[in-house]
Amino acid sequence: MASAEDENQGTQTKVLCVGLVCLDIVKVVTHFPVEDTDQRCEDCLWRRGGNASNTSTVLSLLGARPEYLGTLARGPYLQFVQSDFEEHGIVSDHCPVLTQGACPVSLIILNQASGSRTILHTNKNLQELSLDDFQKLSLSSGQYSWIHFEGRPNVEEIRKMLLHVEEHNSSCEESSKVITSLEVEKVDRVAQLRGLMRHVDYVFVSKEAATSLGYTDQQTAVEGLVSNCRDSAAVICPWGEKGASAKRKGSPAVTSPAFPPEVVMDTIGAGDTFNAATIFALNSGKDLGESVTFGCKVAGAKCGMMGNAGLR
Ligand code: ADP
Ligand code: FRU
Repeated sequence: MASAEDENQGTQTKVLCVGLVCLDIVKVVTHFPVEDTDQRCEDCLWRRGGNASNTSTVLSLLGARPEYLGTLARGPYLQFVQSDFEEHGIVSDHCPVLTQGACPVSLIILNQASGSRTILHTNKNLQELSLDDFQKLSLSSGQYSWIHFEGRPNVEEIRKMLLHVEEHNSSCEESSKVITSLEVEKVDRVAQLRGLMRHVDYVFVSKEAATSLGYTDQQTAVEGLVSNCRDSAAVICPWGEKGASAKRKGSPAVTSPAFPPEVVMDTIGAGDTFNAATIFALNSGKDLGESVTFGCKVAGAKCGMMGNAGLR
């Protein structure tokens, strides 16, 4: 007999996360290494990483029904990545598996003394997702309530995907419309991604991206950046230990403090966790202020634990 949870999974709409999955090799150290020394590590962990992939994980842990979409590489890490998606109840069936190119890998130095993470990322040649891949999803089936896009280098393809969602939304009833969000994180893509902001309902702009545009705090960042958004869309800006601010066009800005854990243990994917929890709350009907506060609470809790399994 199906449990209440199974039945809920059957009717619950999905949140789709489009972007990167990679292998994170996490080296846990007691202090940051000195160049050209030979240091012992406390631990070495393999984790499924990548912003969209991490966001889908946290959505699943919070009780949403996530799907991940991005290119996968045939090769030694494919099974690890696919089984980890499956273990977390994340659908990844629509991901193209490419024979050319290798799975991106991050070597991450996680410093126990501070919880800081230093990421050394390699992505030599894995092709990004195309519009053709994206169009294989059936938006008209009503199974997706939200699509979150990580701002990857394939900006023009993402633009086409967003236009495809806009076209779908313009031809269906209000209740079947898909909400969209975009993450603008990497500093070297800000200029290009800025042009996509008017095509989505929510934009997550990282502290680094906002700083690169000359903003020195989260409030002035959202006040300024919201001018790039369309009417009634919102911009959301997490700012590390300072928490996060958000502003919907035409409404006052809202701010949440951070919720620091007793000990900061692991900040890998804090931003991805914040995005996931904020999306989860907004998708459950919470207002912008409540959602950003929930995002900060969940991200703060995540920083106080190793990995994110404890969020379940
Ligand atoms: P990223 O991981 O992308 O660098 P941020 O550092 O901006 O992202 O953090 C995202 C969110 O995580 C913040 O808005 C905050 O709520 C939470 N957070 C990050 N670092 C801490 C911390 N040291 N203590 C409490 N919360 C934190
Ligand atoms: C964390 C993360 C890691 C990954 C890296 C890619 O936000 O997604 O999991 O290695 O960033 O930039």
